[in-house]
This record gives sequence, structure tokens and C-alpha cells, in this order.
Amino acid sequence: MSTNRLLVIDFGSQYTQLITRRVRELGVYCQIYPFDAPERDIRAFNPRCFILSGGPESVTKQVTPRIPDCVLSMQRPILGICYGMHALVTQLGGHVTTSVKQEFGYAQVHNLQCDPLLTPLDDTLDVWMSHGDRVVEMPPDFQLSASTTTTPIAAVSHPAKGYYGIQFHPEVTHTKNGTEIFRRFLFEISNCAADWSPAHIINASIADIRAQVGKEQVLLALSGGVDSSVTAALLARAIGHQLTCVFVDNGLLRKGERQEVTRAFAHSNLNFISVDISAQLLRQLRGSSDPEVKRKIVGKSFIKAFEAHARTLDVKWLAQGTIYPDVVESAATKFGASHLIKSHHNVGGLPDHFNLKLLEPLRDLFKDEVRKIGIELGLAPELVYRHPFPGPGLAVRILGEVRAEYLTIVREADAIYMEELRAHQWYEKVSQAFAVFLPVKSVGVKGDRRSYQYVIALRAVTTTDFMTADWAPLPPELMSHIANRIINEVPQVSRVVYDISSKPPATIEWE
Ligand code: XMP
Repeated sequence: MSTNRLLVIDFGSQYTQLITRRVRELGVYCQIYPFDAPERDIRAFNPRCFILSGGPESVTKQVTPRIPDCVLSMQRPILGICYGMHALVTQLGGHVTTSVKQEFGYAQVHNLQCDPLLTPLDDTLDVWMSHGDRVVEMPPDFQLSASTTTTPIAAVSHPAKGYYGIQFHPEVTHTKNGTEIFRRFLFEISNCAADWSPAHIINASIADIRAQVGKEQVLLALSGGVDSSVTAALLARAIGHQLTCVFVDNGLLRKGERQEVTRAFAHSNLNFISVDISAQLLRQLRGSSDPEVKRKIVGKSFIKAFEAHARTLDVKWLAQGTIYPDVVESAATKFGASHLIKSHHNVGGLPDHFNLKLLEPLRDLFKDEVRKIGIELGLAPELVYRHPFPGPGLAVRILGEVRAEYLTIVREADAIYMEELRAHQWYEKVSQAFAVFLPVKSVGVKGDRRSYQYVIALRAVTTTDFMTADWAPLPPELMSHIANRIINEVPQVSRVVYDISSKPPATIEWE
């Protein structure tokens, strides 16, 4: 018996994660395996159906990725998208060539034939295409399901086998009816059930955590960020007092952050240790203005404080808030086209001699799923929907040397900025926003007096993956209101500027 889940076989498309998201949004659990995953892993996953992703290669070349044999021999429904369709067609006896005319962007698919995947959708579908190759001959017993003007064979199917191939990308939002196509494949063609919900995820994770950990003790470095907070809440529910959370207040947190984290966790059934190293860290940072040097000092002090407490406890497990994109991004395949390795910032530097086993209960979840289960576990929405905050904290938002006075200024300015973004429903519309302290003075007039004070820069960006980002076009009236409040309420500031650099070439943080 197959299990109620789908497996995405990845050929390196930049959209592979999007496929997984669409499927999970429809309530079906799925994972991504590279096309060269071992057969035993694929069989052990035992999915009810497969989706073959797109990819940058061409099946017309000899040494390019192929569908693993076991995927074809398991006799489960398969949906091949773009390169996935080409591989399916080629391996089942059809033919693909490189087209003279490539097709990128919008296209209209018409001539929809009777096919459980695509009809009765509209007569023509607006879809998103991105391909150089095309199918010129279908495998035996396949039927034509749709065409475009440049691609006569744009969709093929073998309904008796449950095999479908589409040249376009239903996972991108530009494809009209994309979700409906996934829905049909999952529920009508593959008979999946929609049981992947926050409550289901929590129950399944709790059972897993208990089975893994038994009666042993677990340690978690709680930063107050979304991932570590949800990890803490989930572990608290699963193993309660077997969990110790160490929260290190390094003095570089945003206004009210320590209180928020303490409020969320100090009274739950876990052991909550809060360590304050702010005074000593500020001393260590004195005189350092190089961003990398500051980062190293902050990183080391955190590990030291964490270690000092970990040593006194009899723990066997280290819990981390690693999430699915971290896992996928680190798993390069040998053709590895889409996989940029992003460093993620967990307690990476914990010395090996601790010899702890790693517990990562969120490693199968996307950020939005993590947030949903956070809410279901009773965490405050402000905590769960918070923007990302860098490990080195305000040390990288104060340019140059970090001083107590600068910390107070940037904290106050940032708090006003966040309050206004929230009040005007802009906090949720941007991916990340914050204030930056610039240690330069500029002239202004406050009341009838000349003032000569510091500059605050405001940054707000929109992004899906934080690898590239655009500056957010906040309404001018809102920016003006925020600037006025900061200049009036933070006496050490006489000027506010807005950062309109995109990434690249700038980065999101200033240091
Ligand atoms: P950049 O500035 O590289 O930031 O465009 C991309 C994302 O990563 C966050 N960031 C960090 N997070 N430790 C962290 O935990 C760091 O040293 C660090 N540097 C940047 C940044 O806030 C943004 O979300």
C-alpha cells in the first residue's frame, strides 16, 4: 500500500520548491528527492504519486538526468512538467527535439482534448512557459491533450496508466488554473486525501520527537526568532521538562524582545534559562568597527555563554530550528543546477566535543507552515509573523563601533518604525524592515535651535528568498510621518533617510 504522500523528483528547476508548496497547500504531504536519489529511498518513501520537475538540461543530450527506473516500475500516477515531461516521453519511446523557436513567458494553450487533467478547464489556458526543447513524437498509446501555436504537442497523457506530461509550469502563479491542475492530479487522478494540516503536523511531530528522544534531555538555543520559537513550543508540548532552552540576551536585541521571549516561554513547562551577557559583550566590542570582526566577537560570545550552561546539564540532544528550504538548499545534486548553498545561521559553531545528537523537528516544513503551527501551538502572532533578525543583531545595524548610546538610539527609532508599519498594515506587506544607525552628524533645526545630531536610515525590502530583494515603495505620507516621529521623539536624531538600494548589488543588512 502506498502512503498518502507525493514525491517530487527534482531535475534542477528553479521552481521545484514551488511545486512542493502548491501540493502542500492543497493538504498533501510531499518531499523533493533529486533524480539520482537511491532507489531504496524512493521505495521507502512509497508515495502515492510522483511529479517530475522541470530542469535546465536537454534530454536531447546524452548524459542528462533521467527518471529513476523504479519510478516507472512502481506504476503510480506521474505528472511530468517541462523537462519532466521530456524525460517521461523519451524514456517511454517518444521523441523530443530542440526547437528553433524557444518559448519563454506567457503562452496560450488551446485545443484541449478530453483528458482528466486539463478538461473541462477553459477553451484556452493562459500559462507560463520556459523551454527550448519540445516533444515531436508521443510515446506509444499516449494521446495529445493540448497545443500552443509554437508547440503542437504541449500536453500528453496516458490516462489508463495515470501518466501526464505538460510543457508549461502550473506551479507558477502566472499559470491560470495551475492550482486546479494540481488538485485534479492529487485528488481525482491519484486519490490522495487532504490530511496535511497544522494539527496533523503537530501530532505527527510530537509522536516522532517522543520516539526519537525517549527519556533523554534536550537543549535548545532560543533566539526569539520564528524558527527557534516554534521549535521550542513544539518540543515543550512533546517532551516538556526534558527540554532546556537557553536564551542569551547579548544586549543587541530589539526593543522589548527579551520581555517578549520571556513572556512566551518562561512560564511554560520547559526549563528556561535566560543569560545576560550584554555588559561584557559591549566591553568586548569596544573599539571594533570592522563588520566581520564584530560578527566574530558576537558569535564567539554567544557560543561561550551557551556552552557554559550546556556543560552543567546532562543533555544528549541539541535541537535546532532548521527548516525545509535550508535542507533543500544544501542538497546539491551532481547536475545541481538550482541549488545555491545558503549558509543558515543555527548554532553551527557548537564544539564537536559536546557530542550531541541533532534534533530538527521542523526540517520538513516551509516557513509558512512553521508559522501556522506556531499559531496552532498558541504562540503570539507578533512573535510568529516577525521579520527575520540577524544573529549579530543590532551590531550590524550600527555602522562602525557599537556603543551603548547608539544602541538606545537605533532601538528607539526602530520601535517607532515598526509601530507605524504595523499600524498602517505595511509590516505584513514587506519581507523585512529595520532602522540603521549612521555615526555621522548632520545639521537640523529643532524648535528655534540649531541641532547637530545623528542620521537614521530606514530600510524595507520585499523578497521571496532573501537572496535578491527590492526596496519597498512605502507611501510618501507614511515615510514622512515616520521620519517626523523619529526626529521628534529620539532627541539624538536630526535626519532620517530611506534606503532605495536593491539586492544585488547592495545587501539587505548594511554590514
Ligand atoms: P544580507 O544582508 O546578506 O541578508 O542580504 C540576507 C538575510 O540574512 C540575514 N542576515 C543574517 N542572519 N546572521 C544571521 O542570522 C548573520 O550574520 C546575517 N547577516 C544577514 C538578513 O537579516 C537577511 O534576512
